[in-house]
Amino acid sequence: MSSLSPDGDRPEDVSLLDGLSTTRAIRRYTADPIPDDHLNTIIWSASRAPSGSNRQPFRFLVLRDGPKARLAKSLLGEAFRRGWNAKRSSDGYDQIGDSSSPKARQARAMQWYVDHFEEIPVVVLVGLVRYRDPNPYEGASIYPACQNLLLAARALGYGGALTMWHQGVEPQLRELLAVPEDVALSACITLGRPQGSHGPVRRRPIGDLVFDDEWGRSADWVVDPDGTRFTNWKSS
Ligand SMILES: Cc1cc2nc3c(=O)[nH]c(=O)nc-3n(C[C@H](O)[C@H](O)[C@H](O)COP(=O)(O)O)c2cc1C
Repeated sequence: MSSLSPDGDRPEDVSLLDGLSTTRAIRRYTADPIPDDHLNTIIWSASRAPSGSNRQPFRFLVLRDGPKARLAKSLLGEAFRRGWNAKRSSDGYDQIGDSSSPKARQARAMQWYVDHFEEIPVVVLVGLVRYRDPNPYEGASIYPACQNLLLAARALGYGGALTMWHQGVEPQLRELLAVPEDVALSACITLGRPQGSHGPVRRRPIGDLVFDDEWGRSADWVVDPDGTRFTNWKSS
C-alpha cells in the first residue's frame, strides 16, 4: 500500500491535527483519476474506523467508470441537481447580494458540483449492513468510517464531500447495483483531486460549543487558535 501524494513520490506532509482542521467539503475536482493504490489506501483507512462491538457494518461500493458506475453516476447526477435546486431556493442561495461572500462562493461550488457530477472520478456509496431494526444510533457505526475516508483522502492530497442526495434515486440505484435489502445506503461520498486548495474549515467559535460543569456554563479554558475561521452562525 502506498501513501504517495498525487503530485509525486513523496507523502503529503500534513499532520493529523492539520488534516482535521483543513478537511473541507471539496466539490470541484480535476478530471484526474485516483490511482488504485491511492484509492486502496483511502478505503483501507476508512475500514479502520471504530464501530459498535467492532461489528464493522460498513461496506464501500466504489463507482468509477465501469458500465454500472456510469449509469449510477448519471442517476445520481439528476438527483444531485434536483437536491441542489431545492436547497438553493429553500436556503436563500438565490438571494445573495454579495457575490464575494462565503455563501456566494459555496453556491458557485455547488453549481459546479452538480453540473459536472458525471465527471467526478470516484463516487463511494457507503452501506450499512443491518443486523437489527433501524435505530437512531446506527449511524454511529458508519460515519466514523466516512470521516476516516475523507481524512485519508485529504492526507493524499485528494478532496471529497459526504452527501445524502443519493436518496432522491435510491430505489433505482439499489436495483441497478444489486444492493441487498438489509443494507442501508448511509452516504454518498464524492472524491477527486481538488481544483482549488485545501484550507481551514469555518465553524462556530469554540466557546459557543463547549460547556464546563453544567449545560450552559462557559468553559473559560477553551480558545480558538490563531487563524481559526468562523461561520456566520449566531450563537445560541
Ligand atoms: C450528515 C451530512 C450530510 C451532508 N449532506 C450533504 C449533501 O447532501 N450535499 C452536499 O453537497 N454536502 C453535504 N454535506 C457536506 C456539508 O454541507 C459540509 O460538510 C458542511 O457544509 C461544512 O462544510 P465544510 O466541511 O466545507 O466546512 C453533508 C455533510 C454531512 C456531515
